[in-house]
Amino acid sequence: MRTIDIIAGARPNFMKIAPIIRALEERKAQGGGPDYRLVHTGQHYDPRMSGEFFEQLGIPQPHENLEVGSGSQAEQTAAIMVRYEKLLMRARSDLCLVVGDVNSTMACAIAARKLGIAVAHVEAGLRSGDWSMPEEINRVVTDSISNYFFTTSEYANANLRRSGVEDSAIFYVGNTMIDTLLANLERLRPPAFVSEFGLQRGEYFVMTLHRPVNVDDAQGLARLLQAVGEGTRGLPVVFPVHPRTANTLRKLLVLGWPANIRLVDPQPYLEFNWLVKHAKAVITDSGGITEETTVMGVPCMTLRASTERPETVELGTNELIGTNPANLGPALDRLFAGQWKRGSVPPLWDGRAAERIVTYLERLLCT
Ligand code: UD1
Repeated sequence: MRTIDIIAGARPNFMKIAPIIRALEERKAQGGGPDYRLVHTGQHYDPRMSGEFFEQLGIPQPHENLEVGSGSQAEQTAAIMVRYEKLLMRARSDLCLVVGDVNSTMACAIAARKLGIAVAHVEAGLRSGDWSMPEEINRVVTDSISNYFFTTSEYANANLRRSGVEDSAIFYVGNTMIDTLLANLERLRPPAFVSEFGLQRGEYFVMTLHRPVNVDDAQGLARLLQAVGEGTRGLPVVFPVHPRTANTLRKLLVLGWPANIRLVDPQPYLEFNWLVKHAKAVITDSGGITEETTVMGVPCMTLRASTERPETVELGTNELIGTNPANLGPALDRLFAGQWKRGSVPPLWDGRAAERIVTYLERLLCT
């Protein structure tokens, strides 16, 4: 039996691997498909950033946990490479499947390929052109050494072709993150604080911030929160705080922030997406969330200058606001005036991407 390593390291990986594992299990139950080994690198380790996602999304316990934890970019990447290489030398797999663009994605791809193990990249071909983001470097490096490319959009296909990837290695399958969203739409549930904060459907905002450019500088973060507080006209802004952002917010404790911004812990999957689904709009610097808001038809303002997911802007509900807090006011004015675009869902974001991936994997490995 051929074995695939499925690599997961950080929060945005977990919703991408869940449907792939489910599809592999289904194939196994029918007596087919490759075997798999789930490898958690331990890049994210808090229950709120990791364990709760496994439970809610029905992801089995990892077969291996590399327990790398936090560190600088190089420290974390190096630790993952060293530990994953050791695992492969002890127990080799036939293919390494990585998802997304986090440090675990790049590190495992490098370790596997150097041992002559083929690499498949799910969500390949995304490019922001912003080299200040570690994710962009992770994407380019991973794609430069991958053998098989599973893609979410024609933009991604075009980026890959432009960098010399043969059409025969590109598999345009859709979006596994959206598989997870569509599979769980009926299960979404409100967090306990909904009544405490007086959240009414369509009458509150959700905000997430974790990019270094927005959250590492305390004064800059304070200006951003001020602009959010002013532009949202007193409506509650639910702000689940990422650990990186929490570090900076501690420095702002004396200065404070607008009273309508309600800080909460990172939310589990079902609660977070319930909040998004019923929000008036989302303010974020995430990439994945802009895909989820596009599918749910919720207005989204992205506090970044570029995106690796242009379909969320061109087809979806997302708009790039930039990182200057002064841009938020006019965007929020348009929202309150009822002038936000409605958007449409990109092709193949239909909940069946993982099934397609597993069909291809079966062909690649088992024939
Ligand atoms: C990582 C990913 C980013 C993704 C984000 C989602 C990279 C380069 N970045 O960024 O693409 O959008 O995850 O969350 O891979 N920490 C905890 N508990 C945890 C994990 C992290 O307290 O479970 C702390 C770390 O100690 C560190 C900070 O959070 O201070 C940042 O964690 P790290 O994994 O290095 O990067 P993220 O900013 O989370």
